[in-house]
Amino acid sequence: MLPHKQIELKLQAAVRAVLPDADTAMVLVRPCPDPKFGDYQSNALMSLAKSRKMNPRQLATDVVAKLDVGDWCEPVEIAGAGFLNFRLKNFVLTQTLEAAARGEHLFFEQAAQRRTAIIDFSSPNVAKPMHVGHIRSTILGDCLTRTLRLLGHRVITDNHIGDWGTQFGKLLVGWKKHLDPAALKTDPIAEMERLYKLMNAAGEADEKVLGEARQELVKLQGSDAENLRIWREMIALSQKQFDTVYARLGVKFDHALGESFYNPRLKPLVDELLAKGLARESEGAIAIFFDDIPQLKERPALIRKNDGGFNYATTDLATLAYRLETWHPDEIIYVTDGRQQLHFQQVFTAFRRWQAVLSEGRVTRAPNSSGEKSLGLSELAPPKIDVKLAHVWFGSILGEDGKPFKTRSGETVKLSDLLDEAEERALKIVSEKNPDLPEAQRREIARVVGLGAVKYADLLPNRQSDYVFNWEKMLALQGNTAPYLQYAYTRIKSIFRRGELHEPQISENRGSQSSPLRNGNISLSTTEEIALAKHLLNFGLTLEAVAEEYRPNFLCNYLYELAGKFTSFYENCPVLKADDAMRASRLALCDLTARVLKQGLETLGIETVEQM
Ligand code: ARG
Repeated sequence: MLPHKQIELKLQAAVRAVLPDADTAMVLVRPCPDPKFGDYQSNALMSLAKSRKMNPRQLATDVVAKLDVGDWCEPVEIAGAGFLNFRLKNFVLTQTLEAAARGEHLFFEQAAQRRTAIIDFSSPNVAKPMHVGHIRSTILGDCLTRTLRLLGHRVITDNHIGDWGTQFGKLLVGWKKHLDPAALKTDPIAEMERLYKLMNAAGEADEKVLGEARQELVKLQGSDAENLRIWREMIALSQKQFDTVYARLGVKFDHALGESFYNPRLKPLVDELLAKGLARESEGAIAIFFDDIPQLKERPALIRKNDGGFNYATTDLATLAYRLETWHPDEIIYVTDGRQQLHFQQVFTAFRRWQAVLSEGRVTRAPNSSGEKSLGLSELAPPKIDVKLAHVWFGSILGEDGKPFKTRSGETVKLSDLLDEAEERALKIVSEKNPDLPEAQRREIARVVGLGAVKYADLLPNRQSDYVFNWEKMLALQGNTAPYLQYAYTRIKSIFRRGELHEPQISENRGSQSSPLRNGNISLSTTEEIALAKHLLNFGLTLEAVAEEYRPNFLCNYLYELAGKFTSFYENCPVLKADDAMRASRLALCDLTARVLKQGLETLGIETVEQM
C-alpha cells in the first residue's frame, strides 16, 4: 500500500479512537501545498471540530496522541488552526520508488470501494454537425472515464444522442420538398443542415410551413412508415459522421441510447407523476413546480407541452429511471455546457422528489391491458436512493475577440475542420524542426501533437471558466501545453537511446530479473532528486482528486510540474556520466518519470510518440 494511504488509514483510526461516532470517509490526506511544511497534509480535523463545536487544535492534539504513523513519517506537526502536516521518512520514499521500479505500482492504486458510474457525455444532435461546443463535453467526459477506470471503478459510458424532437418536423418537410440528392451524397450533414436552416427561415416567414412541419412530426410520432424511414436515414448518416470524429479522437462509448429510445416511456412517466401529485396542469401544459426552492421558484420544469409533445426534462427523467433500473449506478455524471445548469437542477430535484414518494410506499401495478408493463420507476427494481447525481458543466470556447469562437465567415466551427487544422499546423512545426524525418513519420507525429494540443487546451483551464482558443499558444513547445509534455517525454526516451540502454519494459516483461534498473537500489542525494521523487508519489493523489472533483486540470498541472521538476533534476544531476550505482538510480528516476508522463497523458486521452 502506498504511504499516503497507510497514513490516511491510521489517521482515520486515530479519529475514530477519539470520536467513535465520526464519519471518517472525509478524513483524507492530500499533498502539502507548500513542501516547506511537509509532504502531506490533512485539514479534516478542522471541519470535524467545527461541526462538533470543539476546539480544533485540541482535537488535533488528541488525535495525534492516538496516531501511530512512526513507521512512515517524522513526528507529525500540528499547524495553524489544526492542520496536520506529515513528512515522509527518506527510506519510505526510496522504498516506494524501488517498488515502482520493480513494476509493483505506478504511484496509484485501485480504489478500496469500487463504484459504478455512468458518464453521459458528448451527446451531439442528429442532422447537425458536431461543433466546438461538443468537443469539450467529449474530451472532458472521456478523460473522466479514463481516470475513474484507472482507479478501478466500473464506468458505463452512454452517448445520449439528440435523435428526437420537434426539429424533425422541419427536417422532414425540407427533405421531402427540397432535398438535393447529389449534395446529400457528398456531404450529408451539410445538406441536412441546409434543409433545416431553409425550413427554419421559411417557418419564420410563413405560418403555414410551421403547420406542415407539425403535421410531419405528428406522423413521425405516429410511426408513419415513410417518415420513419427518412428519420432513420438521417440518424444513420449523422452517426457515420460522429463515428469518424470519435475514431480520430480515440473516444469510445459503451452505449449510445439516443433520446428516441425513451419515447415509449414518456407518457407513462407523465401519468405517474400526475397521479402521485408531483406534477400538475398549468395553462394546458403539465409541469413540475418547485415553489419551496427559492432559486427554482418561478421556474417549473415542463414535462408535457400543451400540444401533447414531451420535453427535454421528460426524456431526462425517463433516462434516469432506465439507467438506475439497468445498471444500478452509485453515481451518474452529466457533462454539458453551463447553459444547461437550470435544466439539471430541475431534473435532479424532480427526481429526488419522485424517489422520496416511492420510498414511502412502493406501488406495484399489474401489467396494463395491452400486456405491456407501464414503465414508471415504481415498476423497477428498488432504485438506489443515494445515487449521486453530478452535473459537470463547462464554459464556452471564445475567439480572440472574446466572443464565441466562430469561423471567419461567422459560422460555428466544425469539429472535423478544427482537427484538420490542428494536424496541419502541427505538421508545419514538426517539419521545420525535423526536416529529415520521412514524411509518414512527420505526419504521424503531427497527428499526435495536433490532437494532443487541442485536447490539452480544453482540459487545462478550470472547466467552468470560458477560454480563448489560441492556436499558437496551444501548439507552443514551451509553456503548459501538450506538445511541451510530449516533448519532455521524448527527451527522456532519448537519454535511453543515447546511452544505448534498453528500458526495463516493466509491463511487457514482468518476469525479467536481469535489468539493473528494475532491481537496483535508488538513492536520492540531491534536493532535485528528492523533489522529483516526492512529486512522483503524488500521482495517485492527483488522480483521486480529479475523480472526486471532476477536474482534469489538476492532472494537467501535475504533469506540467512533473516535467519542470524533471528538467531541474536533469540540469543539475548528471545521469549517463554518473558512476555506476548513481547512474542506475538516476536512470530509474528517468524511467519512472517517463512512465508517469505517458500514463498521465494517456489518462487525459493524449498519445505520445518516442521521437519528435
Ligand atoms: N444533446 C444535448 C445537446 O447537444 C446534450 C444532451 C446531454 N445529456 C442529457 N442527458 N441531457 O445540448
